[in-house]
Amino acid sequence: MSRIFITGSSDGLGKMAALMLVTQGHQVVLHGRNKDRAAVAMAGVPGAETVLTGDLSSIAETVHLAEEVNKLGLFDAVIHNAGIGDKERSRMETTDGLSHVFAINSLAPYILTCLITRPKRLIYLSSGLHREGNPDLKDLAWKQRRWNGLQAYSDSKLQDVILAFAVARKWPDVFSNALDPGWVATKMGGRSAPDNLEDGSTTQAWLAVSNDPRALVTGNYFYHQKVKQCHPAAADQELQEKYLTECARISGILFPLS
Ligand SMILES: NC(=O)c1ccc[n+]([C@@H]2O[C@H](COP(=O)([O-])OP(=O)(O)OC[C@H]3O[C@@H](n4cnc5c(N)ncnc54)[C@H](OP(=O)(O)O)[C@@H]3O)[C@@H](O)[C@H]2O)c1
Repeated sequence: MSRIFITGSSDGLGKMAALMLVTQGHQVVLHGRNKDRAAVAMAGVPGAETVLTGDLSSIAETVHLAEEVNKLGLFDAVIHNAGIGDKERSRMETTDGLSHVFAINSLAPYILTCLITRPKRLIYLSSGLHREGNPDLKDLAWKQRRWNGLQAYSDSKLQDVILAFAVARKWPDVFSNALDPGWVATKMGGRSAPDNLEDGSTTQAWLAVSNDPRALVTGNYFYHQKVKQCHPAAADQELQEKYLTECARISGILFPLS
C-alpha cells in the first residue's frame, strides 16, 4: 500500500485518480481550494484518508499547505494535478501580483516540490499544449506581455515539464515525471472533449504506485502509460536552472540543493 497526496482532487482528473487509488487499496490524501471544496472532495472519494485545504493562487496558502502535508508524515507520491485552463479573457492577478495561470499551474507545484518532505515519486500534470509553450521564460508573471490565455496555459504546461525534468536531474533518488492526460471531459476540458476520463487518470495513478518497470523511471514525459517526445527545451539544463532561479526569485523559496 502506498500513500499519495493529490492536489486539486475535488473534481476532474485528480478526483478520478484518487478514486482509482483508493479502490486499489492505497491511502490517499485529497486537496481542495477551500473548506467547501475540501468537503466536496471528501464526499466524492469515500475511503480517502483526509483532505487538506489551500488556494494555490496564493504563495502564502501554498506554503501553508506544504506545512500541513508535512504534518501528516511521509508520502510515497505527490501528484501535482491542480490547474486552471486557458479561458481567462484578461490577465487575472493573484494577491501576489502574478497571473492566475502561472501561479496555480506553475509556481504552486514548484513551491510544493521545494517544501513537502521529499516523496519517492513526483508526478506533474502537463498537456499536449505544452509543445506550444514559449521557452524563453521572459515575463513569467505576464506583467508586460499582452494577455493571451492559450499562450499562458501552454507556457505553464511547458514549465511543468521543465520542473519535472529539473527535479529528475537534481534528485536522482526520486522518480519525477510529467504527463499529458489527453483531452478529457472535465470542467477544464469541456463536454465535447474526445478522450476518455478514466484513461486520462490512469497514467498519473500508475506512475504514483506501480512497480511495473516502465513506471519506475525518471525524467520522462508520458501519454497513456507510454513515453512520448516532449518539447526539447524541457531537457535543456541551462533552461531548467534559469526556471528554478526565476521561481525562487518570485516565490522567495529556494530549490533545495540535496
Ligand atoms: N481536461 C483536459 O482535457 C486536460 C488536458 C491536458 C491537461 N490537463 C491537466 O490536468 C489537470 C487536471 O485538470 P482537469 O481537467 O481535471 O481540470 P478540473 O476538472 O477543472 O479540475 C482542476 C482541479 O484543480 C483545482 N484547482 C483549480 N484552481 C485551484 C486553486 N487556485 N487552488 C486549489 N485548487 C485549484 C480544482 O478545484 P475546484 O474543483 O475547486 O475548481 C480542481 O480540483 C490540470 O493540471 C490540467 O492542466 C487537463
